[in-house]
Amino acid sequence: MDKLLIKGNSKLSGEVKISGSKNASLPILFATLLTDEKIILQNIPNLRDINTTVQLLEYLGKKVEKIGDEIIITQTNQIKTEAPYELVKQMRASVLVIGPVLAKYGKVKVSLPGGCAIGSRPIDIHLCGFQKLCASVDLSNGYVKLKVIGQKLCGTTIILDYPSVGATENLIMAAVLADGITILENTAKEPEIDDLCNFLNKIGAKISGIGTSIIKIVGVKVSALHSTTYKIMPDRIEAGTFMIASAVSGTEILIKNINYFHLDILISKMHLAGSKIEKIDGNNIKVFGNENIKPVSVETLPYPGFPTDMQAQWTFFMTQAKGNSLVTETVFENRFMHIPELQRMGAKLTIKGNTVFIEGCSKLTGAQVMATDLRASAALVLAGLVTEGETQISRIYHLDRGYENIEKKLNNLGANIKRIKE
Ligand code: EPZ
Repeated sequence: MDKLLIKGNSKLSGEVKISGSKNASLPILFATLLTDEKIILQNIPNLRDINTTVQLLEYLGKKVEKIGDEIIITQTNQIKTEAPYELVKQMRASVLVIGPVLAKYGKVKVSLPGGCAIGSRPIDIHLCGFQKLCASVDLSNGYVKLKVIGQKLCGTTIILDYPSVGATENLIMAAVLADGITILENTAKEPEIDDLCNFLNKIGAKISGIGTSIIKIVGVKVSALHSTTYKIMPDRIEAGTFMIASAVSGTEILIKNINYFHLDILISKMHLAGSKIEKIDGNNIKVFGNENIKPVSVETLPYPGFPTDMQAQWTFFMTQAKGNSLVTETVFENRFMHIPELQRMGAKLTIKGNTVFIEGCSKLTGAQVMATDLRASAALVLAGLVTEGETQISRIYHLDRGYENIEKKLNNLGANIKRIKE
């Protein structure tokens, strides 16, 4: 297992290009299971989770070629409708095979994802939706098996108990080939879902209400779906991570290949924290270093609220503020794994339920710390940039799941980070 050695007190400057979005790439890759036609996807980031998804698609009968940030997907005749435990256990998003495979082949068997570091993360909302679409659900031996009861899934109205991102994506994909019209209500509105819907419409689906919490899908025949080339949206969480890196240890950083609109809540909170952010255009911003960071409390919420995937990074950011603040996590029940690690670096943090009290002006010192989940590890990297001395982060395979060459991108900005084999 690799680890990162970070020499602190870096002053970052220059420019960084943000990669394609992990959380848009994954559902869109799974959506290619709806059709046998050739699909070309561009701006796909080179990440562990992408590689895991490619392995799963190949296992299910796809031929996948990767050329740089482009992925070309075609169909073989070795179709499988089962996603094995060995692959699903590596990545919870593997449950997104259910919607497309069930809709296309009438049956699917997937190992249950199990919890992960940030919570139990059940799939009850997904399964309840599939039952409403006339599929039978059988849970046994750690697998979930679904079967279409009639000839095809039947369109209906489904109100989600919670705006779950994955459940929204899974049910949209299933409804694309269902008989009749499906209306999903109380859907998640994350931009990654818009990207999935735009991709699906581009291959011939009929989806409206994109960007709202009521999405209408008019079912089409498989033959209506066709080839396309599609460019994945930029990764708003990687962009947000680099924005904070610049604010705490930068002088001036040009952050390229972003979607300004997707970052509005983060930009407004960083403005409140005293950050200077210059909008060059819709796809490029400049973020300036900020000696006087003001304390700003946040609460994570489904989009367009403050993103839970930026919670760990923001918690670190507030340790550097000139004053105290609170961060409340409302989306996941256990997303404070970065707290004990930041405390080892000298951060003064107190957890009370799903809220962490943050004392500002923390002078952090380098330490040996451990990555526990993707975004927690990003927060530790940010902390390593500002500490006195050297920080060692172990288990950085968590980081590699969601950040493409993060140490290379940071070193190009002036950081001093080495990756070593543990
Ligand atoms: C997606 O996960 C993202 N992953 C997560 O990003 C992100 O944190 C999350 O959405 C929230 O924005 C991908 O897109 C691959 P949810 P997902 O279903 O779909 C509960 C990262 O760091 N829930 O919206 O799993 C669930 O337990 C990752 O990139 C149910 O109770 O998130 C959680 O508490 C981490 N039953 C809450 O809803 C269900 O059936 C939000 O989960 C489904 C979800």
